[in-house]
Amino acid sequence: MEKIKIYKGNIIFTKIPEKFEVLENGYIIVSDSKIKKVCKELPWEYNDIKIEDYSDKIIMPSFVDLHLHGPQFENMGLGMDKELLPWLETYTFPEESKFKDLEYAKKVYMNLINELWENGTTRSVVFGTIHRESTEYLADLFIKYGFGAYVGKVNMDINSPDTLVESTSESLLETKNFLRNYAGVSSRVKPIITPRFIPTCSGTLLSGLSDLAREYSVPVQSHLSENKGEIEWVSELHPECKNYSAVYDKYGLLGGDIKTVMAHCVHCDEDEIKMLKDRGVFVAHCPTSNLNVYSGIAPIKKYMKLGMNVGIGSDISGGHTLSMMKCIVSAIQNSKMYYLYIDDSYGMLTLSEAFYLATKGGGKFFGCSGSFEEGYDFDALIVDDSAIYSVLNKDVEQRLEKLIYSGNTSCIIKRFAFGEQLEK
Ligand code: GUN
Ligand code: FE
Repeated sequence: MEKIKIYKGNIIFTKIPEKFEVLENGYIIVSDSKIKKVCKELPWEYNDIKIEDYSDKIIMPSFVDLHLHGPQFENMGLGMDKELLPWLETYTFPEESKFKDLEYAKKVYMNLINELWENGTTRSVVFGTIHRESTEYLADLFIKYGFGAYVGKVNMDINSPDTLVESTSESLLETKNFLRNYAGVSSRVKPIITPRFIPTCSGTLLSGLSDLAREYSVPVQSHLSENKGEIEWVSELHPECKNYSAVYDKYGLLGGDIKTVMAHCVHCDEDEIKMLKDRGVFVAHCPTSNLNVYSGIAPIKKYMKLGMNVGIGSDISGGHTLSMMKCIVSAIQNSKMYYLYIDDSYGMLTLSEAFYLATKGGGKFFGCSGSFEEGYDFDALIVDDSAIYSVLNKDVEQRLEKLIYSGNTSCIIKRFAFGEQLEK
């Protein structure tokens, strides 16, 4: 028999980027894990069902982080003084090397899960490391604690330090083992093919990964056109390709028949943008990271106006925070600087647009998450914002704005994923 739950409160979400849907003192009817109806008046047939009443609170979709590096959690907030490539070499690769040790991984990954919970992020698309065992432990944690996730064992077989490199055959074999162990095991936590980026992957490895993606019907994630130094290196490594996207495309790793998410896409040319759009590639916009490792400002409003798939990634530890609220603010601030200094043709991101990216935009990668429409998974946050007011007389949209700009995680009093409350 279906299990019905009814939640009452000040409901806010974005069906489309351009505006918020607001139901003051409205109802969300959830059947098992999915939303059945969102309404202003409760239909009579539900009169006998007990209501979970959050009348003075806000009910909003929980967050989707479309790109983050689990093993960089311990480095979050450290090493912000270098540009991407030296940053990887100096801070990131040495930290990731430690995940050969499963005991080390266990400590860091448990803290990561706690912090995701704290920030109200219930779905993430995550890079692990090259180490299969540690990465499997991370996937197990997401399963155990009720989150939704795509988790990737990273591939690196060239241009990598001795402490963080695999042979091509080992890399493919361990990826295959990872897929065997996790493809089809959970409907909520799934494996994803994860070549780190073009400079650390040989052509043989990339072709092999492309075959595995098809063999196991799993998606692909990587980095694309993030930083000028990186792009130059890619063009030296692959002079036969006209741009960075063309390298992924050459090996069958750029959307089309396989779902793909590319982080950053800061410096894509018109030709690449067209390719990303035509192939339905998801862009994971990482605004905090793009500033920290001074990669640049991505033309996100343009991507949205073109109708491309876009979400937001915290990209820790290039990004310095897992808070999607802070990432939303950064996305808006980035777009204002893009408008002011680079191109004023597309306008700036509004709050509803940036909120959409951090909820429904990224949620689309999973299917139906990040909105309160019929058939969507009930992935939600209950927010008590009373502590950030002296006198509470604002409308729901203003309350959400203040929460995002100047609230904190203690305002989030409950988190739901797939219709179930996530306990700490
Ligand atoms: N490109 C390749 N690896 C990384 C990484 O770990 N972080 C970021 N931001 N970019 C990358
Ligand atoms: Fe990244």
